[in-house]
Amino acid sequence: MDGARRKPTRLIALMNQKGGVGKTTTTVTLAAAYARAGRSTLVVDLDPQAHATLHLGVDPAAVESSVYDVLLDPGSGLEGRVHQIAANLDLLPAQTDLAAAEVELANAPDRNRRLTEALATAAGRYEFVLFDCPPSLGLLTLNGLVAAREVIIPMQAHFLALQGVGKLLQTVQLVSQSVNPRLRVTGVVLCMHDTSSTHTQEVVADLEAFLAEQRALDVPWKHARVLRPAIRRNIKLAECPSFGQTIFDYAPGAPGAADYTALAEGMLREWDAMLERRTDAQPTAHAPAPPDAPDAPPEVVTRIATPAPSPAPSDTSSIPTGSAV
Ligand SMILES: Nc1ncnc2c1ncn2[C@@H]1O[C@H](COP(=O)(O)OP(=O)(O)O)[C@@H](O)[C@H]1O
Ligand SMILES: [Mg+2]
Repeated sequence: MDGARRKPTRLIALMNQKGGVGKTTTTVTLAAAYARAGRSTLVVDLDPQAHATLHLGVDPAAVESSVYDVLLDPGSGLEGRVHQIAANLDLLPAQTDLAAAEVELANAPDRNRRLTEALATAAGRYEFVLFDCPPSLGLLTLNGLVAAREVIIPMQAHFLALQGVGKLLQTVQLVSQSVNPRLRVTGVVLCMHDTSSTHTQEVVADLEAFLAEQRALDVPWKHARVLRPAIRRNIKLAECPSFGQTIFDYAPGAPGAADYTALAEGMLREWDAMLERRTDAQPTAHAPAPPDAPDAPPEVVTRIATPAPSPAPSDTSSIPTGSAV
């Protein structure tokens, strides 16, 4: 787009400590959509279950070197470890031994920054790097949060899905207050969405009201919003991982392909518009950080992470009673 000037890298962690909410599907499919739009994209599989690796058609058992080796020896970089999946689409795969990295690195002083260090060796090679985080808030997710500039939260819009979001935001807050002050929550992707359900509509309305209230606070999710379109429940999306194919190869005419394409296009438009606005290039900037917000006072997190009491205080009144948001 801008010829001589090197494009910054947009680093996004797809994070939710709940399993089965759509993290991997969203990581892999958004990445494939960016790649199809001509954007050089890397998927980093940070989950020992290696679902993103499998979904992209790579057998974790046959992988010789993976994100595990990168974490143990970040100085050795990505060379020889990245698999090209398609034009513009690369994968840094996971293996099941990745689970051992949490234990092996437990006492390493730089244990949270290892991925950041390794990615620095590939600086400028990718326009998008997407981290598929495991369903936990452990060391692997932390490495993703430290390496990323943005967090996207895949979520299903039902009442229980909101539980745990407070804990998730608290983790983002802790990382942003320590190792990665520029980390921001971009928004929520609604996965396996059922627009016809009244309950779903109520949960989305509650979530949007909650996010709107947060705009008054100085928190990393100040500008977070529900990203559109929501991804409809679509059986083709559930089928394609077992064929090692993205939806664009497996069922390009399916609603899942249309939804993720539209989501990716919207994000690309905003990203390009942001880059255009930044006519004075900032040499080390990476991401579309919305206007910088000063760090929030710690009590903000404590309050959000606390289950709402029955006479809800005004700032949590839009969250369903009993939710941990
Ligand atoms: N929009 C969707 N419609 C139908 N099935 C989906 C959709 N999104 C994800 N799935 C399926 O739901 C399951 C959980 O999704 P996944 O992306 O693996 O979640 P996570 O990574 O959060 O555990 C998988 O079997 C996946 O294929
Ligand atoms: Mg997953």
